[in-house]
Amino acid sequence: MAEGAAEAPAESGGGGTPGAGQPERGVAPIKPQYLTTKEQFHEFLEAKGQEEPSQETKLDISGKLYLAPLTTCGNLPFRRICKRFGADVTCGEMAVCTNLLQGQTSEWALLKRHPCEDIFGVQLEGAFPDTMTKCAELLNRTIEVDFVDINVGCPIDLVYKKGGGCALMNRSAKFQQIVRGMNQVLDVPLTVKIRTGVQERVNLAHRLLPELRDWGAALVTLHGRSREQRYTKLADWRYIEQCVMAASPMPLFGNGDILSYEDANQAMKTGVAGIMIARGALLKPWLFTEIKEQRHWDISSSERMDILRDFTHYGLEHWGSDTQGVEKTRRFLLEWLSFLCRYVPVGLLERLPQRINERPPYYMGRDYLETLMASQKAADWIRISEMLLGPVPPTFVFLPKHKANAYK
Ligand SMILES: Cc1cc2nc3c(=O)[nH]c(=O)nc-3n(C[C@H](O)[C@H](O)[C@H](O)COP(=O)(O)O)c2cc1C
Repeated sequence: MAEGAAEAPAESGGGGTPGAGQPERGVAPIKPQYLTTKEQFHEFLEAKGQEEPSQETKLDISGKLYLAPLTTCGNLPFRRICKRFGADVTCGEMAVCTNLLQGQTSEWALLKRHPCEDIFGVQLEGAFPDTMTKCAELLNRTIEVDFVDINVGCPIDLVYKKGGGCALMNRSAKFQQIVRGMNQVLDVPLTVKIRTGVQERVNLAHRLLPELRDWGAALVTLHGRSREQRYTKLADWRYIEQCVMAASPMPLFGNGDILSYEDANQAMKTGVAGIMIARGALLKPWLFTEIKEQRHWDISSSERMDILRDFTHYGLEHWGSDTQGVEKTRRFLLEWLSFLCRYVPVGLLERLPQRINERPPYYMGRDYLETLMASQKAADWIRISEMLLGPVPPTFVFLPKHKANAYK
């Protein structure tokens, strides 16, 4: 399903040091900023007279870097690339509950996990407690994951009008039944991804967070924008900061606009348990390394090409190396390239760091490949794909799925 379709801008990619088949870099973890200490957590439970949740319902990923669920772009080959650059937590693309219940093969394929994904969850979208609970029961029996996430951030009409995604933020009775029902049948922690609210000036998250905690959510990620806003404004990290206390002691992850280690450091100062990165990873998957090593990486075009080459290898491995597999790999590569072209090389910037809301003017790269990678034209993305996968079929057309209204 295409959450990003209405939501996403176009960005990503690159390469780097860990070339094909190289092991993950030995990067130091960023210092976790724990929302609460274990002692505070126990005190809180005692004060509330509650039993400590069983081991399985807790998810300790504080301080870890979470690659966001990304419809279309966050496929398994792309997640492998991000893992190599230091993403700690990964999540499958949003899967629609009813499609899974109907046994749609393509939907079940979204739940696949690669062995390198050591902390991996899947994300579900649905509007009704009975189907969502049934689906959770089915997942519990059939797949091996570390957590299941509910998508309560999806803004697209198709989902919203049926009462799913972001609409659940205004349907708290149903929302509660979904969370409690799923929690009851799952042996792994249940997490939820929400937005600030539906309308721009009506924040709902701070009111929902204590409820989500009481309903049994193990962790919530807050994307600091409303449905109405989409990507037109910057994420509201001040509000995310206010929400940290409202959620406590349940860990809150913050999400929105992180494109550099400076952005990540600023975000962690709000007291969130960790950060989730979406478009930043599409523009520059090596962002995870930059954050962990606290530096800017002036990556060369040939290093970026190596990353794309690795992606195509992973793609052919995943989707098959027959004609169909090649064309599928190409489609997903092109979707990614539609984001990748927004990256501006560090060595060309007048002022560091690049900001996610800035649209760079046309520029020439330091070599032919860098210029080609900066092109906003689909024809140039196709040329890059041809360098890696051979010529496109004569009737080939490509229209990117994700259009960012922030970059019009
Ligand atoms: C291409 C694309 C696809 C997305 N797909 C999903 C999705 O399947 N599930 C979800 O919860 N959010 C999805 N999102 C939203 C992101 O996870 C994230 O919340 C949002 O982009 C804000 O983070 P950012 O500023 O780091 O991009 C998608 C975003 C993009 C750009």
